[in-house]
Amino acid sequence: MATAMTFSPTVQHALHHVTEIRYTLQGDGSKLPQTSAPEIIATMLDLLQVAPGHRILEIGTGSGYSTALLSHLVGDTGHVTSIDIDPDLTRRAAQRLRADGRANITLLSGDGVISVAGHPVDRIIAWASLERIPHMWARQTVPGAIMVTPVQVTDLAKTFLVVRVHRGEHHASLTADRLLQAGFAEASPEILDQWIVPPRGVDALTRDADERPWWLSARWLRSGGGQNESELLQQLVTSRRQAAGPLDEQDDAADFY
Ligand SMILES: C[S@@+](CC[C@H](N)C(=O)[O-])C[C@H]1O[C@@H](n2cnc3c(N)ncnc32)[C@H](O)[C@@H]1O
Repeated sequence: MATAMTFSPTVQHALHHVTEIRYTLQGDGSKLPQTSAPEIIATMLDLLQVAPGHRILEIGTGSGYSTALLSHLVGDTGHVTSIDIDPDLTRRAAQRLRADGRANITLLSGDGVISVAGHPVDRIIAWASLERIPHMWARQTVPGAIMVTPVQVTDLAKTFLVVRVHRGEHHASLTADRLLQAGFAEASPEILDQWIVPPRGVDALTRDADERPWWLSARWLRSGGGQNESELLQQLVTSRRQAAGPLDEQDDAADFY
């Protein structure tokens, strides 16, 4: 996308004060794979409407970059609790956040989908796609809290949208008011060592001669007639047939998605 994105002054201020590469760069100069695109991070932080003094729960610490931005946004009177399923990432982020002088953060290691911050929070943000919004998010947020997360919108793999949800005065009242398209890996109760085959919604999986995985997510494969799945996938992998797709040349695949 060629258009320059604009963010709220508070998010722009945070982007200016936190050096992304302190968190995302690895020793060999490459980017840590568990890093979200800075524009997406900034867009989601804008949706979250963070203010000084807020208590935040973040799911998916990753590089620690978004944690540092949140730490800046809540200031000295606020607090960020951030959790990642991968303890190595938690350790790495802890070391960088400490070196950056960020003291208003608690880092945890575990499944953020089922863990709680231990105190009511004003905001929740997740950087990995959830199957659904966890019930306890309503219980551990204050009335008026805002939550921003990618969430699965169909039972097919890789069909999710970022949603903004508001908690009303009562636990049970959650209402969504914004949707955003963005790519994320799925939140998983285990550490993933690959991101090619989604951990949810894959109905058939095969590997080609080079051991590359090919997968399919399709409802009709679930109706009992799935015995030919591997044959079908093998055909898709091996045959070089070309078929016209639904897009015209001038169509944008992202819009179609
Ligand atoms: C896109 S990365 C996070 C990027 C991060 N916000 C940054 O600024 O670099 C997603 C993270 O979610 C973590 N994750 C996946 N499933 C999780 C779960 N169930 N609970 C907590 N963290 C999870 C992954 O280990 C990964 O570090």
